[in-house]
Amino acid sequence: MRDLRISVTDRCNFRCPYCMPAEIYGEAYEFLPRADILTFEELTRLVGIFAGLGIEKLRVTGGEPLVRNDLPQLLSMLTAIDGIEDFTLTTNGYLLSQLAQPLKDAGLARITISLDSLDDEVFKTMNGRGFTTQRVLEAIQTAADVGLSPIKINCVVQKGVNDHTIVDLARHFKGTGHIVRYIEYMDVGNRNGWRSEHVVPAEEIVAKIDAEMPLEAIESNYHGEVATRYRYKDGSGEIGVIASVTKPFCGACTRVRLSTDGKIFTCLFASQGVSLKDPMRAGASDGELREIITGIWAVRSDRYSEERAASPLGDAAPKKIEMYQIGG
Ligand code: GTP
Ligand code: 5AD
Ligand code: SF4
Repeated sequence: MRDLRISVTDRCNFRCPYCMPAEIYGEAYEFLPRADILTFEELTRLVGIFAGLGIEKLRVTGGEPLVRNDLPQLLSMLTAIDGIEDFTLTTNGYLLSQLAQPLKDAGLARITISLDSLDDEVFKTMNGRGFTTQRVLEAIQTAADVGLSPIKINCVVQKGVNDHTIVDLARHFKGTGHIVRYIEYMDVGNRNGWRSEHVVPAEEIVAKIDAEMPLEAIESNYHGEVATRYRYKDGSGEIGVIASVTKPFCGACTRVRLSTDGKIFTCLFASQGVSLKDPMRAGASDGELREIITGIWAVRSDRYSEERAASPLGDAAPKKIEMYQIGG
């Protein structure tokens, strides 16, 4: 257990069809009531306990984390915790221009921004809200200006949706120091209608980019890194691919996730989590919470992506947690 990802809200200002389809998450959809969401104090206490158990890397996610009120205040509480060496956040970037400096001041070191295409028509469809890329591109620039670096750009690749725009995206960020990471479209959650035919294998993504801007494979930064790295042969930067469908990496997983309502999940594809909020609110001590966490981690045997690769379950798959409840 090295990497903790906390979801600070289940709400989002986008409606990406692969995550939160607008037909399901309409005006009337009820997100978690405030009382069920962990407070800043509760989050800080739990992250402190996780840090004591060996967590070195913390990622703040959502939903869209920047829609949580007073996020910079939460970040300054979290960055004061000892032991966290790598502190980052994943956002869709829409609200980032005004928050980049406050987040940097709160101690955030680097950031990952999702951007599935530079083509406005494609992007409008993929964010489900008809937003153009302009605000996200401005936010990427602002994040760079305030020194949140390196910046990673996440692009979920869906066949027939944005795969014709992946080379443009790579070209745009080549030479900027930002690292584009292409993610194979995954069957997270139950509502995006995923089919294996919608996946563009990472190998094809790399081949397409390599044909125009030659690439070579490079070593991972650390054991268990989810992205496979490639650099441009002309020295102008690197890209990554996350091949969680065609080359699952469950065996090296050191990630644990805390949902918005305080449940611990040991897999992105888990059906159920174990509440830390309930015992915490019932008065459990730090020691008791620590025991619950280590008890869960000691018996985990998650390998969903490997099992899917071995024998696809299709509609027979058990109901899974939705991505926006635990972040990516
Ligand atoms: P860096 O520390 O910046 O390299 O980030 P990271 O490698 O932790 O990547 P990030 O958190 O941005 O994850 C990128 C994407 O990889 C996520 O959005 C998911 O789509 C996918 N991913 C991350 N963890 C898992 C996992 O445990 N299982 C699967 N199947 N996919 C994952
Ligand atoms: N498959 C792959 N990646 C996904 N993300 C959200 N849903 C999926 C999915 N079904 C990505 C987002 C964001 C990160 C949090 O996870 O685009 O970059
Ligand atoms: Fe929002 Fe991220 Fe899900 Fe898109 S992928 S709907 S930006 S939480």
